[in-house]
Amino acid sequence: MSESYVLSIDQGTTGTTVLIFDRDGAVRQRAYSEFAQHYPRPGWVEHDATEIWKVTVSVIADALKQGGIKASDIAAIGITNQRETVVLWDRKTGTPVHNAIVWQDRRTAKYCDELAAKEGLPERLREKTGLVIDPYFSGTKVKWMLDNVPGLRARAEKGEVAFGTIDSWLVWNLTGGKAHITDVSNASRTQLFNIHTLQWDDEILDLMGIPKAILPEVRPSSQVYGQTDPDMFFGTHGIPVAGIAGDQQAALFGQACHKPGMAKNTYGTGSFLLMNTGTEAPISKEKLLTTIAWQIGDEPVEYALEGAIFITGAAVQWLRDGLGIIASASETEKLARSIDWNDGVYFVPALTGLGAPHWDAYARGTLLGLTRGTTRAHIVRATLESICYQTRDVAEAMVRDSGIELKELRCDGGASVNSFLMQFQADQLGVTVEVPRVVETTALGAAYLAGLATGYWQGRDEIAEKWQLANRYEPKMDSAEKERLYRRWLRALEHSKGWAVH
Ligand code: G3P
Repeated sequence: MSESYVLSIDQGTTGTTVLIFDRDGAVRQRAYSEFAQHYPRPGWVEHDATEIWKVTVSVIADALKQGGIKASDIAAIGITNQRETVVLWDRKTGTPVHNAIVWQDRRTAKYCDELAAKEGLPERLREKTGLVIDPYFSGTKVKWMLDNVPGLRARAEKGEVAFGTIDSWLVWNLTGGKAHITDVSNASRTQLFNIHTLQWDDEILDLMGIPKAILPEVRPSSQVYGQTDPDMFFGTHGIPVAGIAGDQQAALFGQACHKPGMAKNTYGTGSFLLMNTGTEAPISKEKLLTTIAWQIGDEPVEYALEGAIFITGAAVQWLRDGLGIIASASETEKLARSIDWNDGVYFVPALTGLGAPHWDAYARGTLLGLTRGTTRAHIVRATLESICYQTRDVAEAMVRDSGIELKELRCDGGASVNSFLMQFQADQLGVTVEVPRVVETTALGAAYLAGLATGYWQGRDEIAEKWQLANRYEPKMDSAEKERLYRRWLRALEHSKGWAVH
């Protein structure tokens, strides 16, 4: 009998990664492709969902081909995804009715202001959904589409249209349109879902004018949802699609942060610091998010506190694609180390507003402290430092909120290979930073969820044993220096707030 594997699709904001894992949780094959980002107006961000599906199929094909692995050797498929991004499609044709509106998109900021001004509403929404009012979440984006695509609302009310986050869209396509589902972790990011009763919330649906007929069925994060359709999966059929989680929750699982108090930070397009809170769903006093971490089969739902930072890795991407001052992200470490300190240059990368704990949809990117002596090394260093300061902003809020002292932080994602960044992070937080051997914990988490549902892996203990440390960074910076640097960051941050032209 040939060896079998679990295939994980990590559909992120800037690209799709497919990883094929073996029973040891080791990566057997990897493939990746970026896809187009659309910025139709300042503050707007869209994706073509059809392109996302096509790219996903071709990345799966690449991974199988390069690894010499047959589709029939895949025991299960797990899906993890950029969260909150909204796709609406025609149930008959499977065609999206509009470009997907991406989580970073700020077009509903004014509507969010109106909601925030309603007496008692922010508190009620927070109590029910665990979320603050912000254009980040799916609900107001769905409303925007229903209000702005001609004829869409009537079609939606007749049940002709389906809504989903990217996980729903991929499962729909993988199963040939048989399953219209999402999992609890993704549902908890829509702001339409009650995270305590685990139901779509009628009051919020009415408030935003969203017909129930468009909503996906909400399932656990680890369960056999359906089988691949031969037309959609290289002529092979019957591969169980068995795990779904939003990318940050999947990373928490992949980092084996299974116990309350364990925390991870993922450095991707943005950075997302999540702390497991077990079966408790504490409502934050510090403007962090309470979110569903996962539900394994019919076990109780587990929750997390989350500090969502919108732009971290994407700021490095902007240095490459927007400013053109670096050719690749891998140059940043050397450039940052080429100067002794930041010389007072700060960059607040609020390119799509500020997330936790500030929540300012009108904040914009701000560069401060430039002199005639400023070079690209300063801007690169300021960008890397900003990633760490933003993480400190949310980590401190999380400690105040949870009352749990952070002793160590498990870090992952593409940028966790940058040792300047990881050391500066440990220094700014004053806690040990640990980077595991597999840094693609997002994909790993989704693979584990799928493999648990199909019996490929037996249980969480088996998974937790597979977690292996690659690098540990201890805080070294003198505390006066650390505070001096951070105080300036806090000043820079104030300059970025409310800057958008609107
Ligand atoms: O909430 C947005 C998040 O899911 C995006 O993740 O990895 O694409 O930055 P990423």
